[in-house]
Amino acid sequence: MGILDGVRILDMTHVWFGPYATMQLASMGAEVIKVEVPWGEMMRIPRPDTAIGGQNPIFMYLNRNKKSLTLNLRSEEGKKVYLDLLKVSDVVIQNFSPGTMERMGLGYEALKSVNPKIIYAALSGYGQTGPWAPRRSFDIVGQAMSGIMYQTGYQEDPNGPPIRTADAPGDLTPALWAVIGIMGALMHREKTGEGQMIDVSQVDVMMAQCPSIVTYTNVSRTREELRELQQRSFTGLYGRVKAKDGWVVVGAPRGNIFDRLKKIIGLEEIESREPIDEWVGHRPVKEVLEMFEEGGVPCAPVLKPEEVEDNPHVQARNGIIVVDHSKAGPIKQPNFPVKLEKTPGVVTAPSPLLGEHNEEIVTKLLGYSNEEYEALKEKHIFG
Ligand SMILES: CC(C)(COP(=O)(O)OP(=O)(O)OC[C@H]1O[C@@H](n2cnc3c(N)ncnc32)[C@H](O)[C@@H]1OP(=O)(O)O)[C@@H](O)C(=O)NCCC(=O)NCCS
Repeated sequence: MGILDGVRILDMTHVWFGPYATMQLASMGAEVIKVEVPWGEMMRIPRPDTAIGGQNPIFMYLNRNKKSLTLNLRSEEGKKVYLDLLKVSDVVIQNFSPGTMERMGLGYEALKSVNPKIIYAALSGYGQTGPWAPRRSFDIVGQAMSGIMYQTGYQEDPNGPPIRTADAPGDLTPALWAVIGIMGALMHREKTGEGQMIDVSQVDVMMAQCPSIVTYTNVSRTREELRELQQRSFTGLYGRVKAKDGWVVVGAPRGNIFDRLKKIIGLEEIESREPIDEWVGHRPVKEVLEMFEEGGVPCAPVLKPEEVEDNPHVQARNGIIVVDHSKAGPIKQPNFPVKLEKTPGVVTAPSPLLGEHNEEIVTKLLGYSNEEYEALKEKHIFG
């Protein structure tokens, strides 16, 4: 049993941001119907160098556990099928540029008039209101607009360029906030019977993910002045250090934990990071980790992505699972990461092929006759 069993989601999402949210909802038991443009969303197209059986591995991860329905929403018949689905659904989620759903006649007000209890999540770069609302966006926009990208670069080299964090925290973190919003809205509807609109913006979320922003907005010192002061009063080390045969991270920013680090390396006072760099630099990763761990200082090896799955701890926690795909074969993917005791997250199906569930959804779920389904097919409603 999944925690969201019985919840049906009309998933109008594409690329990374929206699909990551609905993938997590699907792992918790929701039935997710991916409503796609008849030609398939952009992430279906693999890069030639990473395609597996013609499939994009990222698409396969972001869309596992879902059903695919292709529907031309620019046709009246396509819209009718969509509205019939809406009547038997609990949540609509979309991450088109703001105004797109309204132009298709499928904005929140229109959908609410068909299903008043619907929960409608609109995901976007800048939100549904404000002067920049209509602008298109990707992960990098959230990283750039929140101060995170500038800060990461500045930390690395004050004279260097801003640095984008790898993968896409500007997509995946707002996606999780969308999940939180949807779960909360489902609870509210349980209590009151009311649906609601949820507006999640990449920029809003990434700002909220940047706690150090409060330092710069409240302390009247520039980034440069603060850096200067922090360098003058060395209170501890928090970052990466090069060992003899690789990199480690060490988290001993101050207080007790920094005292433990001093004890391990045999110094009473440390006024700069040089003695630590030197001590670590003379030892192999394994020895550094063992000694820091034993002495109570948080530390870890810096792994390459391809090394992660071999880590014995990751293996013991089932961090990577294998999902069978009809075209790509067995594919390794990260597991659902939250261990829910009574209602564990599960992966029961690979990502769907384009339009794989058209017939099942239209005839079995919506009860259209085979003749009606064939007639829609002939009119190219599904592509
Ligand atoms: C990702 C993004 C930049 C892509 O931009 P885009 O390719 O120009 O797509 P848009 O969302 O603006 O529009 C989608 C189009 O598909 C059409 N469409 C969508 N579903 C359809 C369907 N089932 N049938 C027919 N047409 C469909 C829409 O009508 C729209 O066409 P229009 O521009 O003529 O109105 C944009 O969607 C965006 O900014 N989204 C919000 C932020 C976000 O999620 N970014 C992605 C992070 S991974």
